[in-house]
Amino acid sequence: MHKFDNSWLFKREKIDNLSKNKLIIQKINKSLKNLNEINIIDLGTGTGSNFRYLSKKIKYNNQSWTLMDISKSSLKEARANTKINKKIKRISIKNHDVIQNINTTHFSNYDVVTGSAFLDIMPQKWFKSFHLRNVKTKIVYFSINYDGYFNFFPKHNLDNSVVNLFNSDQKSKKVNNLRAVGPDCSLVIDSFFSKTHKTYSLKSNWTQITDKKFQLMFLDFCNKVIDKNKNYHEWLQFRKEKIIKNKSKLTVYNKDFLAIKI
Ligand SMILES: C[S@@+](CC[C@H](N)C(=O)[O-])C[C@H]1O[C@@H](n2cnc3c(N)ncnc32)[C@H](O)[C@@H]1O
Repeated sequence: MHKFDNSWLFKREKIDNLSKNKLIIQKINKSLKNLNEINIIDLGTGTGSNFRYLSKKIKYNNQSWTLMDISKSSLKEARANTKINKKIKRISIKNHDVIQNINTTHFSNYDVVTGSAFLDIMPQKWFKSFHLRNVKTKIVYFSINYDGYFNFFPKHNLDNSVVNLFNSDQKSKKVNNLRAVGPDCSLVIDSFFSKTHKTYSLKSNWTQITDKKFQLMFLDFCNKVIDKNKNYHEWLQFRKEKIIKNKSKLTVYNKDFLAIKI
């Protein structure tokens, strides 16, 4: 299982919200127009960031949400940071492993199946089962799917090698003994859902982020990947220095995926 610090999830929330693709939101609203009640499940909800974003962006009332995650500690934060209001009729919190139990997870009660910063950690095999169980789902929406490239400004000659190491590490991570799909996630999900839905993959990049703490947290992920390789210590030092002196910007390429049932 991948572990994510709640502090990282909270830190990235504002940046994710600014990056999510607005055209996709318009399409979701158009598609939900005639429903009296909207049932939504958020997979890998973490501390509930996607719920807080999407429940506001959906224009309609009578939303019932299920927030699902494998991590009890994140769900505790999600519970503390979500509120019923005039748009939200009900919120259920579900501690569930959606990889291990994909073949017994029921999606038929939901109009929208969603997740954010979640798809790239799923194993290849998961997508086929997930699609089979969602062939009739009205809307499938996954945002902030890492797309395989990031860059810091100013440039350094080891930048591309670090990206390559980062991507290989993403793909080598094991979930339930299966390799995660990593940066291929947008292509993989589209290859299934384009058979049964109208699909869209649109940009949701983190663009020229100057936030110091956020960049240092991202650099720490890079550090974990290059930790054992001395050749990259010079790169790490260079990056740290630029960030601390407020002379650094980070761009990470992501995509949002939408499938609307045809
Ligand atoms: C990068 S975090 C994203 C969290 C949240 N969606 C957000 O945007 O802040 C990925 C989340 O997926 C959850 N997760 C990982 N494996 C899972 C599994 N097998 N079943 C359910 N949730 C899982 C993690 O616990 C984590 O909260």
